[in-house]
This record gives sequence, structure tokens and C-alpha cells, in this order.
Amino acid sequence: MRAAWYDENGPANKVLKLGDMPKPEAGPGEVRVRVMASGINPADVKLRSGTSNYGFAYPRVIPNSDGAGVIDQIGPDVPPSWMGQRVWLFNGQRVGRAFGTGSEYIALSANLVTPLPDHVSFAEGATLGIPGMTAYHAVFGDGPVTGKTVLVTGGAGAVGFYAVALAAWGGARVLATVSGPEKAARAISGGAEATINYREENVADRVMALTDGAGADRVVSVDFGGDMKWLPDAVALNGSVSTYASDGDRMPALPVHKFMRRNILIRPFILNSLTQDTLNRTRFGMLQWTQDKPDALRPIGGRFPLEEIVAAHEAVEAGEKFGTVVVEPNGDSTS
Ligand SMILES: NC(=O)c1ccc[n+]([C@@H]2O[C@H](COP(=O)([O-])OP(=O)(O)OC[C@H]3O[C@@H](n4cnc5c(N)ncnc54)[C@H](OP(=O)(O)O)[C@@H]3O)[C@@H](O)[C@H]2O)c1
Repeated sequence: MRAAWYDENGPANKVLKLGDMPKPEAGPGEVRVRVMASGINPADVKLRSGTSNYGFAYPRVIPNSDGAGVIDQIGPDVPPSWMGQRVWLFNGQRVGRAFGTGSEYIALSANLVTPLPDHVSFAEGATLGIPGMTAYHAVFGDGPVTGKTVLVTGGAGAVGFYAVALAAWGGARVLATVSGPEKAARAISGGAEATINYREENVADRVMALTDGAGADRVVSVDFGGDMKWLPDAVALNGSVSTYASDGDRMPALPVHKFMRRNILIRPFILNSLTQDTLNRTRFGMLQWTQDKPDALRPIGGRFPLEEIVAAHEAVEAGEKFGTVVVEPNGDSTS
């Protein structure tokens, strides 16, 4: 099969190679997926470049965690009804798995694979893994949000946009921080009621003004350390902060007394360390959302043929995309 791989860390144009690799076989409890769309997330780029915390764990890596496609082989113990199903998947290249979705086929545990409704394209399906599931857990990890105020920082990012949309779907009033008018428009289109320019405004003051002094019940933070300047003053009593990244300051000083006084729960997490039960709730929650919101935007930040995976990785690195960049190992992924 055609595949992209790297044997060492480094820049995309230096280490990513294209060629033929053996087609995988589905083992017990596994399915093989003909990959139509391979989603690239910042962590895939960090793992390839060597800037991730995980180091280089395998002799050869086929990059990219997420994807969508059609099951073309099932292993022992997998119900025959799975054969031929449209699916989306996550954790293709992660925790114990060297070979991800940057290839024509992938074989992996059926636990990582979820049905893809006909009205969701393969390219859209490749956005539901890391961006969708991270957003889902960040929003709902502490229970329902109906009637609550949810503040999403970075409401136009791949994860942030889904967090806005999911919180609105869950019945919350949604506020979002953004860096400018274009990103504000995106967050509003996803379901945010108001946006706050975190570079120009006092975020805590605006949140307090928008909530009659109560603060946000839940915060979903894309930059825990960067948000720390205002965060302790913007969360409601007994509120919570769920955070999935801290690139602005990886070692922030925490004003513990402020969090204690307000009895605030802080929940940092990484998707691939969640329990299988939580992951199941999360992936089937995303499936439910696609069914309840068939016309919702599932943003695709660019489509590239597998042969152009270097350019695709560079587009993610550049950061100025809206949504998830995908590569197409088996042709057009828009159906
Ligand atoms: N823990 C996990 O399991 C997990 C899962 C997914 C992603 N991540 C990590 O989360 C980060 C974002 O991923 P992504 O795919 O959403 O990336 P993305 O699509 O590039 O979006 C990041 C967004 O965050 C905004 N942003 C950055 N710093 C901000 C701040 N201090 N306040 C408000 N907005 C800010 C950026 O816009 P501006 O710079 O214009 O504000 C951008 O819109 C990456 O570091 C990724 O590795 C972690």
C-alpha cells in the first residue's frame, strides 16, 4: 500500500517519506479501514518534529492519529455487520501504535472506530477524533451544561470551535475568547453569544459584566498558562476549568488561594489517557451530535493528496488554518 512515514524526528520536508509498505491485516478485535481522509492535528506535527513530550518511541512511524474511511476487513471477534461500514477513527498513531492514518489502509482495535453517518463526509469524519472528542470531554467531562455559562478560550480553534458548538448544543450560554474579528465571527457562527478579544480586553472584567458578576460556570481553556492572568477572576463559585493545552506558559504559577476560595475544580487532561469508558461516552457523544446537528459546520482546514503530506503538515504548523487539515490517501474525501 502507499504510505507516508518518518524514521527520525525533524522538519516535514526532511523526514517525511512516501513509498510502499505492507498492507496491514486485521487481528483479533480489530478492523482494517481503507482510509479516505487522514486528519492532522498539532500533536501529530509535534510528534513528527520532535517537539512533543513523548520522544521517538518506534523505529518507523506512519503519522496522524485521526481518520475516516470504510472497513474492508474484520478480524476474529468483530461482528460481520461491521464489514463495509463507513467509520471515523482516533488514536491511529498514539499510545502503543506506530502506524497511523497517513496511508491507504490502517488496522486497529474496533474500540477506536465509530460509525460515520452518511450525511457526514469522510473529510468531516477526520475532524471528529482529536478535535471533536477533546472538545466533548472538555465541555461535558463534569456533567451536563444545560443552563450554565461556558467560556471557551480560543473559540475559533479546531478544538475550541467544536467546544463552542457542543456547549451550545448542550443548552449552555456560550462565551468565547478570540484574537480578532474574523475569529470572533467564526465563534459566533458556531453558537457563541458573545466574544472577548483576549489580546485587547480585560477578559475577567468582560466575563463578569456578561454574567452579572457571577463568572463562568465552566471554562474550556486552550492555554491554561496563558489564561492564568485573568482566569482565577472569571470562574463562578463551584465552577470548573477544563484544559487541554498550555503552550503560552507550560509552567504557570497558580494563585491557589483564589481557586480555593471559589472552590474551583481544575481538570487538565489528554485525550489518549482517558479511560475506555470515558472515550466510549465521548465518541458516541460525538456521533449523537452529528445526528442531532446534521447541518453543523465541521471545519476542514485544507485537503491534500497523500503525495502532498509535507505541505499538509506545514499548513498545520503555520497555524493559520480554520479547522482540521486532511490528507486523502484514496482520492476525493468529500463524499
Ligand atoms: N490535551 C489533548 O488531548 C489535546 C487535544 C487536542 C489538542 N491539544 C492541543 O491543543 C492545542 C490547540 O489545538 P487545536 O487543534 O485546537 O489548534 P488550532 O486549530 O491551531 O487552534 C488553536 C487556537 O487557539 C487560539 N489561542 C492560542 N492561544 C490562545 C490564548 N491564550 N487564548 C485564546 N486563544 C488562544 C489560536 O488563535 P489565536 O492565536 O489567534 O488566538 C487558535 O485559534 C494544541 O497545542 C494541541 O496540541 C491537546
